[in-house]
Amino acid sequence: MSKLISIEGSDGTGKTTQSLALVNNFKKHNKEAILAREPGGTNIGEILRKILKNDKNIEPLSELLLFQAARTELIEKIIFPALKSNKIVVVDRYKDSTLAYQGFGRGLDIELINLLNNISTQNLEPDLTILLDMPVEEAINRTSQRQQVSQQITETNFEDESIDFHTRVSNGFRTLAKKSDKWIIVNGSLDINQISEIIWKSVKNLFD
Ligand code: TYD
Repeated sequence: MSKLISIEGSDGTGKTTQSLALVNNFKKHNKEAILAREPGGTNIGEILRKILKNDKNIEPLSELLLFQAARTELIEKIIFPALKSNKIVVVDRYKDSTLAYQGFGRGLDIELINLLNNISTQNLEPDLTILLDMPVEEAINRTSQRQQVSQQITETNFEDESIDFHTRVSNGFRTLAKKSDKWIIVNGSLDINQISEIIWKSVKNLFD
């Protein structure tokens, strides 16, 4: 049974670890699942990812359009084909990241973003969205530790944003989560295995 599950949250909340753990859990239970990530996951998407992560002078509207272009590629080339062949798709960030970052974070018009999201996703809604939530300061600390470990201290666009920006993004995600019963909010400060178990329990409900 095909399903689309998106994992959302601010930078540093552990989405990538949990997306991988979820796909592995599906595999352990003999369900075919693939992992996709935004921006990226296709040739063009990965090129756009590099531009988006490195260019600090990009105009907010250009940034919005590039995220949508990357999403259009991912939807057409990866997500739709996988769903058509009955696979489960776990996506590390999806359209709600655009609402949170470009909408709540940068202040671009939410209606415009909704319109573009609908076009790039062809109205494909996730069956479930998991929000990894934690205090902004903790998420920022984790991100800077990660950058130091990988010695990429200077490189990224979003991770260098102000605490105000990250607070708006984080509150934006919470606002979105509260509007729909297709979201679950998981405390990202818990132990990694505990989080995976909570996610797995909610995901299993989709298949009952
Ligand atoms: P990435 O390294 O994938 O961050 P993370 O590991 O935290 O997901 O970088 C992606 C960045 O792009 C991240 O800071 C969030 C941002 N982003 C947007 O601003 N809008 C979007 O629509 C998407 C998909 C991502």
